[in-house]
Amino acid sequence: MAPYDLVVIGTGPGGYVCAVRASQLGMKVAVVEKNATLGGTCLNVGCMPSKALLHASEMFEEAGHSFAKMGVSVSAPKLELPAMMNFKQQGIDGNVKGVEFLMKKNKIDVLKGTGKILGTGKVEVSADGKSQVVETKNIVIATGSDIARLKGIEIDEKRIVSSTGALSLDKVPGKLLIVGAGVIGLELGSVWKRLGADVVVVEFLDRILPGMDGEIAKQFQRILEKQGFAFKLGAKVTAVDTSGKTLKATIEPAAGGAAETLEADVVLVCIGRVPYTEALGLKEAGVALDPRGRVQIDSHFATSVKGVYAIGDVVAGPMLAHKAEDEGVAVAEIIAGQAGHVNYDVIPGVVYTTPEVSSVGKTEEELKQAGVAYTVGKFPFTANGRSKVNQTTDGFVKILADAKTDRVLGVHIIGREAGEMIHEACVLMEFGGSAEDLARTCHAHPTRSEAVKEAALAVGKRAIHM
Ligand code: FAD
Ligand code: NAI
Repeated sequence: MAPYDLVVIGTGPGGYVCAVRASQLGMKVAVVEKNATLGGTCLNVGCMPSKALLHASEMFEEAGHSFAKMGVSVSAPKLELPAMMNFKQQGIDGNVKGVEFLMKKNKIDVLKGTGKILGTGKVEVSADGKSQVVETKNIVIATGSDIARLKGIEIDEKRIVSSTGALSLDKVPGKLLIVGAGVIGLELGSVWKRLGADVVVVEFLDRILPGMDGEIAKQFQRILEKQGFAFKLGAKVTAVDTSGKTLKATIEPAAGGAAETLEADVVLVCIGRVPYTEALGLKEAGVALDPRGRVQIDSHFATSVKGVYAIGDVVAGPMLAHKAEDEGVAVAEIIAGQAGHVNYDVIPGVVYTTPEVSSVGKTEEELKQAGVAYTVGKFPFTANGRSKVNQTTDGFVKILADAKTDRVLGVHIIGREAGEMIHEACVLMEFGGSAEDLARTCHAHPTRSEAVKEAALAVGKRAIHM
């Protein structure tokens, strides 16, 4: 087979974006995908289906609880779960087809099958008992991640589910027990809570959303509790008895002590994800892994084998689609001899609940630990005009700036549309901007983004509306 300039293994957001960028740069490119559809975890069982269900369940909740106060009278909404799942599937199909279109448009060959690296310049692609060897100048591993499992608790994707099963339940569980108060637990917990489940979240640590700013996480927990979430912090699930009609989960305090039993119809295990390198032949090819099983790379995404690179969830760093995409672009540019680069200090994180939580840069805890002197500016949505008229005043904006230089080091937002609002902070931080720069930037009125400007003004203790 004609040699390629680049073969990318995996077509998630890391892989397909890398392939497109490489093609734009004039390379002859192929992608290898073992799944029936392109798009990886994100499009098929991750970002996109979860956002479709978050949107649909939020509309259901709003129709039931928020319309009346605005004078919109509707009869009580009725859930038709199969139709909601169909809405989700239409979204998945549309996006997956979009990636197929991008492959065609950019003249990228799609090789269906499992990719195995035979060494520099050689990838074996196997499907249905047949295999072919493809020759290429460069290889990018973009094989993503898989769910982390709990020892002794078997995921059947029916009653004990991972995120994948939780995106496709065929009825609303009466009681949903979630193990892990991370992003998946809180997003998918929100979906099923809104649709009528009783949700209990068991979290090993003494807080939710580890890694997010502590003050934001605390307020977020209070808001979720108001919505009906129950949390058991500092606790772990050690066993689930599946013998009866109802599941019986054994919960133990993380610090040790007496166990208790909680009943549930469905248990969702979401305690993180692990890099996926199965069947890639990395050991035989000599591609080194780090102690956590991630493909080891240098600052140019190069692995220990010449001409083999890796990006996305399978390497170190936050397991986020946009991080994988940016790495895909950067590695394609590096292979083309350009100066591809990812700024890991400015990678936003968003939790797509209601309200949303978004964050970029350092948290207060990180700055304290690093001994950096900082100033804080905060502004609540209760003082933002647009939020007041819409009666959506939960949350606040928090800006952390260097005490000496005023450079913005971190921005954290809890509130509706926080996931959209964070990007002005990203652009500002990408350019090394200060709180003063943000405070002096004209913001349209009336918008929720004015709260970001006011928080920047509050860094200099001169917020106007507070
Ligand atoms: P993946 O998307 O995992 O793609 C890897 C691809 O490689 C897969 O298609 C797989 O089949 C293929 N593959 C693996 N091995 C081989 C092989 N040997 N041969 C051929 N093909 C192979 N991130 C966000 O940023 N925002 C979100 O809102 C968000 N929501 C999420 C919700 C859920 C429920 C989950 C589970 C994840 C979510 N994520 C989200 C994380 C996001 O999905 C991942 O960070 C992202 O998909 C990683 O992209 P990737 O390209 O590295 O790998
Ligand atoms: P996570 O790392 O976000 O959270 C896992 C949680 O489980 C942590 O709070 C951890 O302390 C807890 N935990 C670990 N072991 C436990 C145990 N034995 N008992 C109880 N709690 C335990 O992982 P999650 O939610 O599974 O998500 C996986 C990845 O997917 C994340 O890295 C995230 O970045 C990505 N993702 C991103 C989304 C987004 O950007 N909106 C949405 C969903 C997933």
